[in-house]
Amino acid sequence: MTVFLPLSQAEQGKLVSAVHAAQYVRPGMRLGLGTGSTAAWLVRYLAYRNRKANLGVTCVATSSVTAQQAKTLGLSLSSLEDTPNLNLVVDGADEFDPQLNLIKGAGGALLQEKLVAVAADQMVVITDPSKEKAKLGAFPLSVEIVRFGWQGTAARIEHALGVAPQRRMVGSEPFVTDEGNFIVDLAFGQIDDARAVHNTLKSLTGVVETGLFLDIATRVVIGAPAGAAQVLEKGGRVTHPWPEDVDLTELAEILVKADPNVGV
Ligand code: A5P
Repeated sequence: MTVFLPLSQAEQGKLVSAVHAAQYVRPGMRLGLGTGSTAAWLVRYLAYRNRKANLGVTCVATSSVTAQQAKTLGLSLSSLEDTPNLNLVVDGADEFDPQLNLIKGAGGALLQEKLVAVAADQMVVITDPSKEKAKLGAFPLSVEIVRFGWQGTAARIEHALGVAPQRRMVGSEPFVTDEGNFIVDLAFGQIDDARAVHNTLKSLTGVVETGLFLDIATRVVIGAPAGAAQVLEKGGRVTHPWPEDVDLTELAEILVKADPNVGV
């Protein structure tokens, strides 16, 4: 992954949401770490704070990519097998709606992300304003399916929902998840009844999990590049200002330079 300095507005917004979300991380927590470019900022920022004063957090990563990044940056890692109950998970999303329902899975980690999310007491989602939608579905819905007989599963999905699944590829090869499955993406345009779509998909043989995260998120942190964040909860929305004593440009530089996973 390449991150350029000074950060683009988009990357700065992701960093801002990660810093705001980090206020929900308390010393000693059992913490789920999400996957994706926004979650990567959270990992960088937590590792930075951990270097300054040991946070004593035990982390469970939602993908091999995040696990590698967290390990490299010195965060203490466990597995969901060894740490089955988490206090908090912080993760990104592709879309969210006013009821805090999400589409996730663009990074292909939706299955582990959901397993970690449901193991956590709270889920804080880190996003930017472009991901807020009145209704989900403009972003293609990722669905994880088993490889064996995948064409049959794709046909069952199309028959049930009337949308042609596209198998995700990396160049000329099919994308394979950390759990050894395929991902298909469904371009709905708009999903009127997310619960019905999720339930239909889950009833089909060969479907493992969907990227619809319904009634799981506790709050959504929406970072703006200038530094403030809106925090959306079921009860409403509040704005949190950027902490005056933190220089955003300087922080970005420190975090990027400390992370050997990013090419600057
Ligand atoms: C990973 O599979 C996804 O669910 C990501 O969490 C989601 O796509 C958000 O990624 P970005 O933070 O890179 O937008």
